[in-house]
Amino acid sequence: MTAVGAASAAYIVAGLLFILSLAGLSRHETAKAGNAFGMAGMAIALAATIGLASRSISGAGIALLAVAVVIGAVIGLWRARRVEMTGMPELIAILHSFVGLAAVLVGWNGYLSVEADLEGQTEVASDLIGIHSAEVVIGVFIGAVTFTGSIVAFLKLSGRIRSNPLMLPGHNALNLGALVAFAVLTVVFVIEPNIVLLAVVTAVALALGWHLVASIGGGDMPVVVSMLNSYSGWAAAASGFLLGNDLLIITGALVGSSGAYLSYIMCRAMNRSFISVIAGGFGNEGAAAVDKDYGEHTEIDAEGVAELLQDADSVIITPGYGMAVAQAQSAVAELTRHLRDRGVDVRFGIHPVAGRLPGHMNVLLAEAKVPYDVVLEMDEINDDFPDTSVVLVIGANDTVNPAATDDPSSPIAGMPVLKVWEAQQVVVFKRSMNTGYAGVQNPLFFRDNSRMLFGDARERVEDILRAL
Ligand code: TAP
Repeated sequence: MTAVGAASAAYIVAGLLFILSLAGLSRHETAKAGNAFGMAGMAIALAATIGLASRSISGAGIALLAVAVVIGAVIGLWRARRVEMTGMPELIAILHSFVGLAAVLVGWNGYLSVEADLEGQTEVASDLIGIHSAEVVIGVFIGAVTFTGSIVAFLKLSGRIRSNPLMLPGHNALNLGALVAFAVLTVVFVIEPNIVLLAVVTAVALALGWHLVASIGGGDMPVVVSMLNSYSGWAAAASGFLLGNDLLIITGALVGSSGAYLSYIMCRAMNRSFISVIAGGFGNEGAAAVDKDYGEHTEIDAEGVAELLQDADSVIITPGYGMAVAQAQSAVAELTRHLRDRGVDVRFGIHPVAGRLPGHMNVLLAEAKVPYDVVLEMDEINDDFPDTSVVLVIGANDTVNPAATDDPSSPIAGMPVLKVWEAQQVVVFKRSMNTGYAGVQNPLFFRDNSRMLFGDARERVEDILRAL
């Protein structure tokens, strides 16, 4: 078998492993196997690509490649070992930015080695130069949008910049203008490729990526992360066309389409318009958090909560991001066991975007050995709150905000939420009266049947256990 034939065979095996990986990752029982398939596929892909490249590059080039792979692997292992679960979305966002940057560099390299050097050019037949130029400009555009969009997502998710939507006047016209400029510049570039045009396309795309994600508010960030995942896939596929690498095209298309589908599912779960979110908040005309006077909140201490729980028949726990920050899941699991042993009906209500990544709460509760059958999705439990004695809201905020259903002017209006306020008594565990991720005040805290239990969620749950 020739080297090219062997590489193609390896690419097919790697492509199949990536498909098996995606299938495995769709259920948490098979997620570990899915990860293993993905790692094996990537190892085969790297080996085959390096093997193929080694035929046409010098020994020094191979050594450089090996050094780059080792440095990348060391940094990757170091970051992956250190990252907290709560820091995963921002890590993913910054990794997407690398894919975007790589696509920009591949595009520019394609231009410099073909269009900029047409006389000495042997790689692309002259009648195919137009197609090559289109691949260059499209790859650079998608890559640059992904690059800056992912950086803004990283800055928002890590709290380095505010998560509120940026509402420049005429923001929709700006986005549309950038797309029209891209279309026109692409046509001109294909007819007459030159470096100035490519630089202008790159600058327009960098600005568009920044603006698209800056215009999206905190509550919609989960969708943005999966949307950027999709963009990074298309950027990789565009690079695949440019490099003539079939595996990159297959992998890019898999990431691009699965990311787009995930964004669609998340939009449906959060009652958001898919088009509005991918168009950088199109239709969101600047709903902003308004300071309203909601009245006074009432505090409670751990002993008071223990008394409420002693008299309760049924309890629903709705965890959120704060449970992950406090690492309270084991204490919560212990409290659940204790109450169930006393005959109390304890269940969990999980919002689809509670925490900072899909399935965040389910993973934490599984880790703490909470039985699966008492962990219910929002839709399965949302009608049961009126018959519930006590709800414990542990470090959740946006996902239990009644403004989403009651206040059409709220930035999170229309997002489905856990209707905890319908229970007889609600206890909210948090450290202060600060807002949640979306930056919106929560009227739940001021309701007559709500009690605030301030402090670190794990310490407070342990206090309750002691009092019980
Ligand atoms: P959030 O609305 O983010 O609220 C979490 C609350 O936890 C905060 O109000 C905070 O209040 C409290 N908290 C933090 N540390 C705590 C600690 N050690 N002990 C006790 N409380 C603590 O959480 P949520 O209800 O889970 O909603 C998730 C939000 O994140 C949504 O807006 C969602 O759109 C967004 N988001 C989700 C994802 C995914 S995919 N799940 C990804 C990105 C963004 P204090 O500061 O007062 O303690």
